[in-house]
Amino acid sequence: MSNPRLAQLNRRLPGLRVLAEAGDLEHYGRDWTRRWTPAPLAIALPDTVEEVQAVVRWANDERVAVVPSGGRTGLSGGAVAANGELVLSLERMNRVLDFNAVDRTLTVQPGMILQQVHEAAHEHGLVYPVDFAARGSCSIGGNIATNAGGIRVIRHGNTREWIAGLKVVAGNGELLELNRGLIKNSSGYDFRQLMIGSEGTLGIVVEATLKLTEPPPPSRVMLLALPDMGALMEVFALFRARLALQAFEFFTDVALQHVLAHGAQRAIEGNHPYYVVAEFDAADERQQEAALVAFERALEQGWVSDGVIAQSEAQAAALWRLREGITESLAPRRPYKNDVSVRVSAVPGFLEEMQALLANEYPGIEVVWFGHIGDGNLHINVLRPDDLAEAAFIAQCEQVTRLLAATLQRHGGSISAEHGIGLVKRAYLASTRSAAEIALMQGVRKVFDPHGILNPGKLFEAD
Ligand code: MLT
Ligand code: ZN
Repeated sequence: MSNPRLAQLNRRLPGLRVLAEAGDLEHYGRDWTRRWTPAPLAIALPDTVEEVQAVVRWANDERVAVVPSGGRTGLSGGAVAANGELVLSLERMNRVLDFNAVDRTLTVQPGMILQQVHEAAHEHGLVYPVDFAARGSCSIGGNIATNAGGIRVIRHGNTREWIAGLKVVAGNGELLELNRGLIKNSSGYDFRQLMIGSEGTLGIVVEATLKLTEPPPPSRVMLLALPDMGALMEVFALFRARLALQAFEFFTDVALQHVLAHGAQRAIEGNHPYYVVAEFDAADERQQEAALVAFERALEQGWVSDGVIAQSEAQAAALWRLREGITESLAPRRPYKNDVSVRVSAVPGFLEEMQALLANEYPGIEVVWFGHIGDGNLHINVLRPDDLAEAAFIAQCEQVTRLLAATLQRHGGSISAEHGIGLVKRAYLASTRSAAEIALMQGVRKVFDPHGILNPGKLFEAD
């Protein structure tokens, strides 16, 4: 502990676990963006709510910036510590605290991995339905901080819908108990909802009471090949009208090629520009028949050129891998990511403009599209060509993002659908939120964190 600040933290909290080796700083200082060079002061690994409070109080007294940290699977730089911040990792606070069968709630610590939350709910015959590919490494605290979405939003909504209560440590170290698991609570401002999606800038989640629900009915998974982009929303409208959709995800052939090169199995032969993975309720023959009828109708209309329906769980998993494996298959290339949304009704108009914009602005650059199209959410991953320097590449992508932000503004969309603003999108916040809103957000931040020690630099360009 040669650093005087660390020595002081150690004196004040001698029992606190602190890491400061170079490897630890590197590991805990970055997230999946891999764009910034990690440079935290140290890593604090509290074990209790009281320890979190004590660390925050110390940081508040000493004006040390704190970066709350979960699984660091974020894609917007929200958990990056590149400026001498203290990383406050919640990974040791990873237990189930309570299951309540009457309320159908599971109370967990924030460091619990999403997949463990799923398993814990399953043990009680229930489900926590928020789900996405990073389930094996993201933490529930991080999910709450970004209001994570994923592949089941079309059926179940975002994380926001599934939080019955939160315990949060605010920027002055005070512990707030928000909503206490109540279904009905019409007693003024709902700070629980304010915390969800606040990206660690208002408080640190130290406990979450999650709503659980019944397991979904048996389902089937279908992969569809589409001849053009115009067919996408036609198929979506048809399937949504006739089937009870659990998921409706889209990707391009460019995305498919990356996943196949990464070890996934091809499921449809031939070249098709677009694909959809749809999962729908198939509890009885009537629902299974409805899916086949919808598929045949899409074929007749020329909206679908081929399709396959999984006949086993293993096949369903293989089809899902084609969609869920995309992020991982692109990760070694460290793509520049856009994560945008518009209302579902605005998707066709927006897509047309966006397609033209990207074709124009990224000549000779590989752009991979995919996403939760049934939620109006599109992911655009831009891959740096080998002969383009990183700085020049980022500058070009930022210029295109400015144009994209203007297009989104015209279509009433958002510059961040589900990844959060973090460091990556903060320059574009004003394209989605008005100046009055941003001023109010900053005012709210001052109330919860008067000295601006919680995740400074994230979300807003200037604190
Ligand atoms: C996904 O849906 O797979 C991720 O949110 C998107 C991404 O990696 O850009
Ligand atoms: Zn996504």
